[in-house]
Amino acid sequence: MACAFFWAGGLCCLVLVRASVTVYSQEPYAGTNTGTANVASFTGAAAYDPTHLLPPPIPNPLPAMQFTQQLSSVPPPGVSVPQGGYFYGFSIEFSVINQILGINGSFLQVPFLNLMSNIQARGGSVRVRIGGNTQETATMVQTLPDGRMMEKKNSSDEYLSQMFTPPLLYTPEVLYMLANISSLVDVGWYLGIPLNDTQNLRLKIAEVAEQVLGDKLLGLQVGNEPDHQGHRPPTYSPTDYFNDFGIVDAALRADPRISSVDGKLIGPSVSGNWDLQDVWNTGFVDTYRDSLAALSVEYYPSDNCAKVLNTTDPIVDPQQIFNTYLNHTAATSIVSKYINSTLMAQSYDLPFVMLETNTASCDGFPGLSDSFGSSLWALDYGLQMASSNFTGALLHVGGTSGYYNPFTPPTTNQSTYHSWTVGPIYYSALIVAEVFGKSNASRIIDMEMNNHSIYTPGYAVYDNDTLSRLGLINYITDPSGSSDFTATLSFNAQTPTQVKVKYLVAPSVSEKSNITWGGQTFGPTFGSDGRLEGILDVQTIPCDMSANTCRIRVPAPGFALVFLHDPAGEMPESPTPVTWPTTAYTRTTKTTLGVDASVLATSNGNQGMQERLGSTSSGRKWWLEEDEPHRRKPKPNSAIHVRKRGALAFTIISCTGIVVLWLGIKVI
Ligand SMILES: *[C@@H]1O[C@H](CO)[C@@H](O)[C@H](O)[C@H]1NC(C)=O
Ligand SMILES: *[C@@H]1O[C@H](CO)[C@@H](O)[C@H](O)[C@H]1NC(C)=O
Ligand SMILES: *[C@@H]1O[C@H](CO)[C@@H](O)[C@H](O)[C@H]1NC(C)=O
Ligand SMILES: *[C@@H]1O[C@H](CO)[C@@H](O)[C@H](O)[C@H]1NC(C)=O
Ligand SMILES: *[C@@H]1O[C@H](CO)[C@@H](O)[C@H](O)[C@H]1NC(C)=O
Ligand SMILES: *[C@@H]1O[C@H](CO)[C@@H](O)[C@H](O)[C@H]1NC(C)=O
Repeated sequence: MACAFFWAGGLCCLVLVRASVTVYSQEPYAGTNTGTANVASFTGAAAYDPTHLLPPPIPNPLPAMQFTQQLSSVPPPGVSVPQGGYFYGFSIEFSVINQILGINGSFLQVPFLNLMSNIQARGGSVRVRIGGNTQETATMVQTLPDGRMMEKKNSSDEYLSQMFTPPLLYTPEVLYMLANISSLVDVGWYLGIPLNDTQNLRLKIAEVAEQVLGDKLLGLQVGNEPDHQGHRPPTYSPTDYFNDFGIVDAALRADPRISSVDGKLIGPSVSGNWDLQDVWNTGFVDTYRDSLAALSVEYYPSDNCAKVLNTTDPIVDPQQIFNTYLNHTAATSIVSKYINSTLMAQSYDLPFVMLETNTASCDGFPGLSDSFGSSLWALDYGLQMASSNFTGALLHVGGTSGYYNPFTPPTTNQSTYHSWTVGPIYYSALIVAEVFGKSNASRIIDMEMNNHSIYTPGYAVYDNDTLSRLGLINYITDPSGSSDFTATLSFNAQTPTQVKVKYLVAPSVSEKSNITWGGQTFGPTFGSDGRLEGILDVQTIPCDMSANTCRIRVPAPGFALVFLHDPAGEMPESPTPVTWPTTAYTRTTKTTLGVDASVLATSNGNQGMQERLGSTSSGRKWWLEEDEPHRRKPKPNSAIHVRKRGALAFTIISCTGIVVLWLGIKVI
């Protein structure tokens, strides 16, 4: 038994909760910067696995560490199509939205709102897809027991159950929740229409999404990974997909509850098993041009399925492949496969979106997918996709079994003071938003810098046709400093008197938590409420006006974003997102209770409150939101704003001395 005792607005509440008590070890999270992979020793959730790999050795021969990069003041031939700061968004596995987004439309996860708000502040808006393996078997029903928004069912599909993504039922509340999120942060949504049963189409999501989300619905993906063996019969072909897409298109057009299908659908979302050209050869784009919102693909450069699914294939040792992620070829080898298709998409004036991607499918690799190396990889990969005329890419977020998550809420059995874990790859999304900014008019080119060295890639961004920003990557880990490179930027016109530089740095590509962007961080495992912490550090570097050069040092490892000029009236390096200080954003009628994220995580069905565990000695204060008791119903259409009014701090006091589980109930 544990009790929580807190002081709230003059009311003292004593809440007794029966709980079976186990302390979930958190020792490994402290982590060290050294050590080798020891995957077997960790038994907790993957998202918190402390495995560190060894950084790859310093390349021999070392590329030039001093070199000149000539810059063109006007966009050179080959620059990309205009890109938006929303380029990198997120793809969230359907089965975990109740842990990541919120329990329902009036109970939202504030760390998630903050994480989206950070991107919006830099890039203008955010794009999120709800989908993945689980979307194909998801079914909308009108209601579920106990007013729940979502319920997972036991899977009859072996692959899905192995992937821990069981079929699920959900209610329209999910769409209201998305709409409520969009009223707070400018998030646009990609959703999916299941294509696992074309005899019995389930179009309800399209009907409800159109009504509830309006223009925040970016598109409806028709079928997920049609070329993925395991989801469909082995004979399933591009022509079968073409036909099935047509069945859905026709059914939507015949549906009187749907006002328009034009510009709404997304396909083919192939995962790399089919040759894309074979899909285009079916006449897919010509036939469905009117219905299409975008063309889509999905891709993972590797997989950890042998381990996760316990197949007979050899298990991949992440240490052995770590180096393959840590050079420019990792990005170019993926993206080059799609260049024919992105050019074709341009000719049809259609966006081309990487709808789901990450370091490796089947949860990613311990020590790799959650390392600083993955930040650099995702930066280079994202900027390479943008340079090659993709128009967006979504980093996949799985459950706590994922190593690759950009962000992870605490597990159901984590103590209350544990918070969210922001993964290294989230920094990449944040930075790409800064690289492109808010204009929607940034065009980017791979500078093939340093004589094409694969260890020192660099990109130039032309915002509204003005040379504006550079992104410079150093993939090498070398604490001695002798592999830090210095790029001498040479201007053919308009040499700036000084430039500003923000660095993304960590001690090593193996590092998991000591990562800073412009001096700020999301902290270690369980360390974040979704807001950057620390003091912003932007370096000012004077240029040599007589030589028309600026010298930029990039540490090994590291990334530098060079701001060549400040757009009028806006300091791009210091965006101030609107954020929320609580852990849950709620809007209920009688009382409003701010509870921490681990409480939210209990909503997913089979685990009751009493099964949650806590731990002592946090000493951390939580904020409680208080609503006005008389305000029983929110006014329709009234703008939501964060109610700081009445926010109360309370401190958890442990009764058992070991573990505390708290539950707040405010009595009016
Ligand atoms: C907590 O949850 C994780 C992930 O589900 C599980 O691996 C671990 O065994 C659980 N710990 C306890 C003490 O129940
Ligand atoms: C939303 O979830 C919260 C927390 O579980 C609950 O208190 C509230 O009643 C729910 N609201 C609706 C409308 O179901
Ligand atoms: C949020 O969603 C709920 C559905 O649960 C809805 O009743 C409520 O009006 C929404 N709030 C706002 C401000 O849109
Ligand atoms: C791209 O198109 C060219 C010319 O049609 C063709 O030779 C090449 O194989 C294509 N590449 C891919 C990856 O499809
Ligand atoms: C991207 O599109 C632009 C504009 O059409 C084009 O000039 C450029 O060559 C394309 N890039 C690639 C890698 O295809
Ligand atoms: C950029 O594009 C987004 C989404 O397409 C739009 O909402 C926004 O208004 C655009 N911003 C500018 C500055 O044009």
